[in-house]
Amino acid sequence: MTARLEEHFQATETFVRPTAEALVRCEGLEKWYGSVHALAEVDFHAEPGEIVGLVGDNGAGKSTLIKILSGAHPADGGRIFFEGREVRLDSPKAAMGLGIETIYQYTAMVPAMSIARNMFIGREPLTRFTIGGIGLMDRRTMVEHATRSLTNIDLTERSPDTTVEELSGGQRQAVAIARAMYFKSKLLILDEPTNHLSVKETNKVLDYVASLKEQGIGSIFISHNLHHIFPISDRIVAMARGRKIADIKKSDTTIDDLTDLIV
Ligand SMILES: Nc1ncnc2c1ncn2[C@@H]1O[C@H](COP(=O)(O)OP(=O)(O)OP(=O)(O)O)[C@@H](O)[C@H]1O
Ligand SMILES: [Mg+2]
Repeated sequence: MTARLEEHFQATETFVRPTAEALVRCEGLEKWYGSVHALAEVDFHAEPGEIVGLVGDNGAGKSTLIKILSGAHPADGGRIFFEGREVRLDSPKAAMGLGIETIYQYTAMVPAMSIARNMFIGREPLTRFTIGGIGLMDRRTMVEHATRSLTNIDLTERSPDTTVEELSGGQRQAVAIARAMYFKSKLLILDEPTNHLSVKETNKVLDYVASLKEQGIGSIFISHNLHHIFPISDRIVAMARGRKIADIKKSDTTIDDLTDLIV
């Protein structure tokens, strides 16, 4: 790390601190992948209704942090609190159960299944009918909700019965976003969700995330494009080489300062 770069780092004692009402709060997270120290002493938090922009160069540890928060990877050290209670996020199901919904950088879909089925994988609504004690999937509800979600992201030219393999990369990403929007819960995490989207689709997603604030839903939005996240973020957290190097209210910084910090 050069002296020139260090000049830009925010002093640790000026990092924004969580309130007593923080939605999620992590203390001293540690993660190793073999000999790679992917997270070192990372404190992180998000308040209800707050949009946190998470930025940093390739390999900074952003995805690692959100994989821990979404239960996909275990931390090697540190503590996580959700709505004030200490929690163990040892599976994606545990995280979803708390109300943490994640859109990954490369979200998994089943190509041969329809948009509607992909939206509800593992969480299919059931009818009141059963066969041999097993609930029947409520296809009509799935199609109705899928249609509404596709309208939200302006993918109306596609029917919910379209199989995902017929969609472009951007459209698949849009379906993943529609899915997370439907199960939006309390905390929405988006890891580079707009990479393959058109400008129009991207703006829709940004508008949507901004609209979640009013419902008290917190969001963590990872992007390489500061121009996407700066306008909608309340606070920016920057990482470099597994460490948090800035945690600052948007009103106390500028895109230019942040660009100096992370590149
Ligand atoms: N499953 C894994 N196995 C081994 N090393 C990993 C694994 N996942 C991440 N790493 C390493 O951990 C470090 C942090 O990676 P991470 O994916 O969190 O970075 P990132 O900030 O999301 O980067 P990008 O902007 O490129 O997505 C990198 O050095 C990466 O190579
Ligand atoms: Mg990443």
